[in-house]
Amino acid sequence: MIPTETLMPDATGLARAAQILADGGLVAMPTETVYGLAGDATNSRAVAGIYEAKGRPRFNPLIVHVADLTMAQRFARFDAGALALAVGFWPGPLTLVLPLREDAGLSPLVTAELDSVAIRIPAHPVALALIRAFGGPVAAPSANPSGKVSPTRADHVAAGLSGRIHAVLDGGPSTVGVESTILGLTGAATLLRPGGIALEEIEAMIGPVAQHQQGDPLTAPGQLASHYAPAAALNLNTGPERGAVHIGFGPTREGIAQAVLNLSPTGDLAEAATNLFHMLREADRLAGAKGRITAAPIPDHGLGRAINDRLSRAAAPRPSDTL
Ligand code: TXA
Ligand code: MG
Repeated sequence: MIPTETLMPDATGLARAAQILADGGLVAMPTETVYGLAGDATNSRAVAGIYEAKGRPRFNPLIVHVADLTMAQRFARFDAGALALAVGFWPGPLTLVLPLREDAGLSPLVTAELDSVAIRIPAHPVALALIRAFGGPVAAPSANPSGKVSPTRADHVAAGLSGRIHAVLDGGPSTVGVESTILGLTGAATLLRPGGIALEEIEAMIGPVAQHQQGDPLTAPGQLASHYAPAAALNLNTGPERGAVHIGFGPTREGIAQAVLNLSPTGDLAEAATNLFHMLREADRLAGAKGRITAAPIPDHGLGRAINDRLSRAAAPRPSDTL
């Protein structure tokens, strides 16, 4: 057991968090998408610790978080298209998968020994302050046990990883609420994971983007079918049902359901994304491990694509179901 410190994002807390990173330790940091589990991306001991704390398979590479474009260019090669996207969307919830520079100096565990690297500048003052105080790149997957619901609050992190990491920097709730959009740029631009920047916005800048097909060789290995899984069973695209906790979207009738949570009573996709992971956790708590959750249909455009991606993985058969 590692005693997990809770740190406030003031000068003292940031200095402490940066020192933990410099010592090869692990700090959960707030970002605009979800909380990330940060470690020194150049230190293989730190990066191995990230995989271990999460129980994450080592073949699933991590995102490198940097504070500015100059730092990003030390690790990845940017062509004109990649530069335009970086200038247009960073800091923000867009991760670019780019050719890795041979002289990058990152731990090979970060990239799972691929010749590409996933990189982004988070749009969160605390994350940026931490990366600057530390003075280098931090590898950061979402700060949850592998396969479970991602954390959007410091207490979500503590619930999953307390005793396994050195500190949590509490920066309040994440505003975007779903992970970054991942765009592969090592060949034709390919959407590897829908996320906090809508595909439509990216296509408005660079034209048509190919969609990743399940089973394609260049996948984001994190695109495993079961992910973000609550303990309760989850049924999608349905209305409230007797004996189930319902996650609604838009006008929703109370009534027969055990309880109703609403992602956005007005049908706002950005608000629904912000609330998604917290409400999945709440629904799980209310339903209990043997219970059932139902979720309303969500429009499949804009941020709705990311919400539907997370919901369908949360509902997928879990590996343990087939054991
Ligand atoms: O919003 C986010 O992206 C959050 C915050 C903390 O920044 N991070 C996050 O990390 O979602 P994680 O580890 O949960 O997801 C990273 C995804 C994985 O699906 C991984 O397979 C993919 O990025 N990935 C990383 N490097 C890659 C590479 N070189 N090629 C293809 N996919 C890559
Ligand atoms: Mg994750």
